[in-house]
Amino acid sequence: MVRGKNILLGVSGGIAVYKACALASKLTQKGANVKVMMTENATKFVSALTFQALSRNPVYVDTFDEKDPEKIAHIDIADWADIAIIAPATANIIGKLANGIADDMLSTALLATRADSYIAPAMNVHMYAHPAVIENMKQLEAWGYHFIEPGAGYLACGYVGKGRLEEPETIIEVIEQHQQIGQPLQGKKVLISAGPTREIIDPVRFFSNRSSGKMGFRLAETAAELGAEVTVIAGPTDVKVNNSNVNRIDVISAEEMYKAMHEAFPAADIVIKAAAVADYRPKQVHKGKMKKQAGDLTLEMERTKDILLSLGEQKENQFLVGFAAETDNVIEYGRKKLEKKNLDAIVINNVAAEGAGFAGDTNIVTYLNRSDQSEEIPLATKNEIAKKLWQFIIRDMKDERN
Ligand code: CTP
Repeated sequence: MVRGKNILLGVSGGIAVYKACALASKLTQKGANVKVMMTENATKFVSALTFQALSRNPVYVDTFDEKDPEKIAHIDIADWADIAIIAPATANIIGKLANGIADDMLSTALLATRADSYIAPAMNVHMYAHPAVIENMKQLEAWGYHFIEPGAGYLACGYVGKGRLEEPETIIEVIEQHQQIGQPLQGKKVLISAGPTREIIDPVRFFSNRSSGKMGFRLAETAAELGAEVTVIAGPTDVKVNNSNVNRIDVISAEEMYKAMHEAFPAADIVIKAAAVADYRPKQVHKGKMKKQAGDLTLEMERTKDILLSLGEQKENQFLVGFAAETDNVIEYGRKKLEKKNLDAIVINNVAAEGAGFAGDTNIVTYLNRSDQSEEIPLATKNEIAKKLWQFIIRDMKDERN
């Protein structure tokens, strides 16, 4: 998959630079055209000459060292690259890229390139866990950069933990797989509901729940990255969708969500119901603010329509995925819901587990399909979970067609 591709290998300064030599060599052996750009600090670990010999191309370090008067090197290489790999990526280069800083050859070229960009971080375990680094990585991920997570093990700084540059073979494998997968949802229309619903009592009060919409939004962003045309029907939440290709329609109540989902449903190929829809709403909506009175207050509630159930009844060729929140007998209850609502798959939130649930950035889920095949996704970020869930959905859609 990398054969014939133009690869810009960005090498920033860390002890793991020696592994980037193997990476440059393996990529070249696989038939890729590799041009290496190093930061000044990277040259303190391994000389540019090593990379020149391994890549059989000139190596670029200094923005002002223009080798060809016909061209401006950092722009020329940025345009030339099909793929950019930053390995090792230090906290510094990640921080610069996330903040639009271009003060040397590599950071400038990285801002200028439109290539598919992969970042393989390598740093001390505490640096990797620092909120600044985490925020920078999140930002870059939201902009479409792909991260190749570091492995855990003995680090050169003496610590044992996460921060070791992934092995060159694995980096290539991940990139090849990603390039091969490409955009499997191209031409597909994806409809996702996310967030809570709000059920009005009077002009100042409502019932709602703690759903943030994050899981549904991460699923929507990933679907867009995989080439789908995505609409997300969102209940009231302050959380943003970080992908401008996602069409977001905001709704308030379960009834509004019902209408919006049904309107978009006939044209959809894949529908995911990640929203936490209220099961009940006040039977009476007061026009004016309710006044307090002596004694207790009883509000009469009525059932909202089960949107997912009604979509299951109307389903034609859509691949329909529901969500469920369970504390015990996760698979058994999940299976019952899948059958009752005529779903193709269900994602079961194990809400009793630490790190799972509504509002946070992480979750623990089990994916269950119609053939009773279940996949557990242990504690991971909602972004990682979204990526895994799409792998399973794409796999199961193919299986259903065969
Ligand atoms: N759902 C829906 N419309 C509702 C209620 C729920 O579409 N009025 C959808 C949710 O979006 C989710 C799934 O149904 O995909 C959740 O199913 P539900 O049966 O409500 O499960 P739980 O919320 O887990 O509730 P319970 O176990 O109490 O039945």
